[in-house]
Order: sequence, then C-alpha cells, then structure tokens
Amino acid sequence: MVTISPIRIKRFFGASIRWKILLAFFVIVGLSFAVAATNLTGLVRGYLFEQKTREDSLLAEKAAAAAAPFFDEADPEGILRVLEENAQSIDGRLMLIDQDGKVQYDTLREMSGHRLQLDEVLQVLTGKAEQAYGMHSPGEETAARLGGSGYNGQLAYSVHAMDGANGPIGALLFVSRIQSLMDSLNSVQLQLISVFVLIAIAALVLALIISQVVTKPITDLSRTMRKMGKGDLSVRVPVRGSGELRELAENYNTMAAQLERLDKTRSQFVSNASHELKTPLATMKIMLETVMYQPDMPAELRSEFMQDMNHEIDRLTGIITDLLTLTRMDSEKGSMKTEPVDMSGLTEEVVHLLTPAAEKRGQQLEGRIEPDLQMNGGRDRLYQILYNLTDNALKYSPDGGRISVSLRRENGNLVWRVRDNGVGIPPQDQEHIFERFYRVDKARSRETGGTGLGLSIVKQLVSMHGGTITVQSEPSRGSEFIVVFPQGGAAS
Ligand SMILES: Nc1ncnc2c1ncn2[C@@H]1O[C@H](COP(=O)(O)OP(=O)(O)OP(=O)(O)O)[C@@H](O)[C@H]1O
Ligand SMILES: [Mg+2]
Repeated sequence: MVTISPIRIKRFFGASIRWKILLAFFVIVGLSFAVAATNLTGLVRGYLFEQKTREDSLLAEKAAAAAAPFFDEADPEGILRVLEENAQSIDGRLMLIDQDGKVQYDTLREMSGHRLQLDEVLQVLTGKAEQAYGMHSPGEETAARLGGSGYNGQLAYSVHAMDGANGPIGALLFVSRIQSLMDSLNSVQLQLISVFVLIAIAALVLALIISQVVTKPITDLSRTMRKMGKGDLSVRVPVRGSGELRELAENYNTMAAQLERLDKTRSQFVSNASHELKTPLATMKIMLETVMYQPDMPAELRSEFMQDMNHEIDRLTGIITDLLTLTRMDSEKGSMKTEPVDMSGLTEEVVHLLTPAAEKRGQQLEGRIEPDLQMNGGRDRLYQILYNLTDNALKYSPDGGRISVSLRRENGNLVWRVRDNGVGIPPQDQEHIFERFYRVDKARSRETGGTGLGLSIVKQLVSMHGGTITVQSEPSRGSEFIVVFPQGGAAS
C-alpha cells in the first residue's frame, strides 16, 4: 500500500514552483468567490424575507382592522366578505380565531371550529404581543392541513390582534405559502454554486497555463544545466519571452558558449603541444638508435649526431619554457606587478644582445631609439616582447638582410617598430600568426627552430600592458610589426 506521509506532501508542494503558483491562484480565486457568494446569498435572502414579512404583517394588520368590528358584532356575512376581499390577492388563507384559540372563520372553511396550537397565535392571544410572525417547515400533515390540501412546503404565519369595543376579541391569522419563495432562493444558490464551479475550473486551467508559462524557462534551464553537467558543452537554452528570465537564459548561453570555446582551445592546445613535443623526441630517438646500433661509427660522425641531439634538446627546452610562460600568463591574468621601466635602455639592450647573431649571417641590425622614454610595466615581459619580435625579424630575413628596431613617442604613445626586408607574410596568414602554434611555412619554420608560440606570447604580453600589436607585410619584401602602448603604460 502506498502511504502518503506529511513529508511527502511537503516535498511535493515544496519542490515545484509550479504547484505553488497553482495552489496560490486556486486558493485566492476560490476563497474570494466563496466569500462573495455567501455574502450575496445572505443579502438576497435577507432582502426577500424582510420584504415578505413586511407585506404579510401589513396584510394581517389591515385585514384584522377591517374584520374586527364585524367579528365584535358577530356579523358573519360582513366577516366573510372582508375575509374574501383580503384573500383574493394572496397565496394562502385567512382565519379568525377567538380568545379561546378556536377558529371561527376560515377562508378555506376546513379549519372552522378547530383549535390551533401555534406559537404565534398564542403570543397574540395571551397579549404578549400585538402581532407575531414566523416562518416554518411543518411536517407533511400540518402543511396540508394549514397550507391547503395537496400543499407540502414551507409556511409563514402572520398573526394580528383584533380589538373590539370592550378590549381584545381574538386574532387574525394569515397562513402564507412561501415554498415558491424558498424555491427561487434555492435556485439562486444553485446558480451561484454552478457559477462557482465553472469559475473554479477556469481558474484551475488558467493557473495551469500561467504556471506552465512561468516555470518553462526555469525547467528548460535546469534540464540544460544537467546535460551540461554531464559533459555536453554544446547544449543551449531556448531564449524566449522577455524580462529577467530571458536575461537569465541569454546570460547562461553566453557562459556556456564561453565554456565551450575555452574547452575547445584547451584541448586543441594540448594536442598541438603534444605534437610539437613528439617531433623532436622522435628525431632524437632515430639519432640515438643510429649511434647505438653502429658501434664502429667514425668519431666525427658520432659527435655530429650528438650535437644534433643537443640542438633538439635545446629546442625541446625552448618549447617547454614557452608553454610554461603561456600557462603562467593564463593564470596570472590581471594580477601583473608593474614598475617604471626604462624603455630606451631596454630596447638598446635587446639590439645589443642580438647583434652578434645578426652579424654571423651578415645581417644589419640597427636601433633607432629615442632617449629617456619610460613606461609602467613588467620589465621582463616587455623585454620578451621585443626579443621575440627581433628574433623573428632576424630568423625570417635572408643572410645580409636589414633589420631595424625603433622606439619613439607618437601622439603621446610609446611605439615599437620592428622592420625587416625578409620573406614577408602572405595576407591570408597575417590574421593567424598570433595564434598558438601557427606557422606560415611549417617546414621552413621547423628548420629555423620555430614552434609558432612566440607571437602568441607577444600578443598576450602586449595586451597585458594595455597595448596593441599590428603587422604590415608583403611577401618577399619584408614585414613590420608595430606595438603601441597607450600613454603611461599599464595601470599600476
Ligand atoms: N618577421 C617575420 N617575417 C616573416 N614571417 C614571420 C615574421 N614573424 C613571424 N612570422 C611568421 O609567423 C609565424 C609565427 O611566428 P612565431 O614567432 O609565433 O613562431 P615561430 O617564430 O615560428 O616560433 P617560435 O615559437 O620559436 O617563435 C612564423 O612561423 C612565421 O611563419
Ligand atoms: Mg618566433
């Protein structure tokens, strides 16, 4: 057997906004209508009863006054005429009762000579009141006896005292059949109940629709989040409607897109990195095996192999250092320590350091440096920016090429320009060279030792300093990289 514990009920209603809305709506509409309906029937009932009481009492009073003189003088004809006249316009009967409680005259005749034990009649006959009124649901027998044969419904008794020349002489009783009044009251009540049921059903349907509309975006969102939690980052919430829920869905989708993009770049980065690391390792393994399996290899050749292996190890170390720099920058975003940096001195230093390498290949490396330029930033990072750019310029220029590095103040900004007359970069590659692992000429870059990480590091470092980097290049004529740092450098 299924038992419904209070906790279960609590959970059922506590769990869902939908049920809460439904319940609240239903209770508010239902309660207000129930209160309104009760008040309305009370009002109608009160009005109708009051009206009836007043009418009946008035009639009884009038008839009593008209009949009293004839009754006092014992004039049966006069009495009958008066009673008949008054009985014409009513749904009921009139009776005259003497002081002993005996019916003397009855418009329906049947009760004449009988005694009547009615509270209202007693009250008047005993002099407790001049008139009395009461509504009753008598038994079947009394209803037929007093209401007329065949009548079975509610009755109202309206009694008024009659006074003769020497004091009280009896009472006039007006028995009114009020079943039709009760019937119409009941039908009003019935109508109200059916309207209430209709309204309750309408309220229920409306509440269902409203709660569905209100909670749909929330359930959608939670379903999507559940899917995303299971690892599917491509799911999105449908954006509909307006207001806060729409904003919520939009914000959620933006966040999901961001997460998905991050996830993609990360996995791409990892696969690229492993690929880059695998290549030098494979080369080294081949060289190592060659040396191992040829014990009688000439010493000269062997040392050449060793040198090549040493070179590959340097390359590996370089790649790993770059990778570490990139990951460190990712995690350090926004928390860079800055200091005033002597940019003129720093530029001089880079040019000086790379001059021997340039000279080795007959290249001309020229520095055009405006003196005493300073900005706020990280010294090592700024150094790495210029070093990478100049290193590229040398690497991608032929022997005997000309490279110039300039530092100037332009419109208040500090500007580095690194220009070469080397191989240049095709237009379609220019927008990609700042991506991680991107190389224009894969084969040649590897020969020259490049992994395609240098410029992506540069770009990140430049933006950490609030600057921008652009490239202008024409294939086989040369390239120019321009770094612009806004006035004052990075905020400290
Ligand atoms: N001055 C330049 N002239 C021509 N091509 C260039 C120049 N600078 C960069 N490139 C192109 O852009 C690519 C990306 O440069 P990047 O510095 O990121 O990588 P890399 O030099 O190949 O390797 P490394 O990670 O060792 O710097 C290079 O492979 C090269 O094809
Ligand atoms: Mg490079």
